[in-house]
Amino acid sequence: MIERSPMTAETRPAPFKLTRTIVLVGLMGAGKTSVGKRLAGMLGVGFVDSDVEIEEAAGMTIPEIFASLGEPAFRDGERRVIGRLLAERPHVLATGGGSFVEPRTRAEIKSLGTSVWLRADVDLLFERVRDRPGRPLLQVDDPKAVLTDLNTRRAPFYAEADVTVDSRRGCSHETMARTIIEAIRAYDLAGGLARGSTFEETM
Ligand code: S3P
Repeated sequence: MIERSPMTAETRPAPFKLTRTIVLVGLMGAGKTSVGKRLAGMLGVGFVDSDVEIEEAAGMTIPEIFASLGEPAFRDGERRVIGRLLAERPHVLATGGGSFVEPRTRAEIKSLGTSVWLRADVDLLFERVRDRPGRPLLQVDDPKAVLTDLNTRRAPFYAEADVTVDSRRGCSHETMARTIIEAIRAYDLAGGLARGSTFEETM
């Protein structure tokens, strides 16, 4: 269920309408959820976190799904949930860090959404995730080594996103959200999405 994000004076809708779902991809800690919420507020559209939807659909937390059903079952559920969300009205969708690596999920995102890789260096990602439990892949002796390895292996897939935006230390969610809008508009104008642009100008 996609709910419209609350709007504040500083998050008045932009002078254009979203016509495709913006899908945020990238590693754990990239800021997909926090920046995504701010972006949705600015655009006056709904925000959804695919991890939350998966937990609701399964009636279990993500660590419970990994522990009792295993990662392949999680990936399968993730693909189905993301496919369902992409069929709903345009919104901002934050995805789990592994989703865009799965070929079928990536293909669906690329065909129905506008994908944005929130890229950050591993030191910054690790600072953001190290004290936050709930990510089964990082429940290991050396989570930074795992994150480094995931970054190396996944970067070539993330690089297939339509747009890449760098997340830097000290950069506010608001600035990130504005940068994403500008990057997508530039991509649209350059004809990046031959199948249709992400925004429709309304002013
Ligand atoms: C995962 C990232 C998590 C969550 C799951 C697996 C991954 O989401 O989907 O723990 O494979 O990178 P976030 O990227 O939102 O932390």
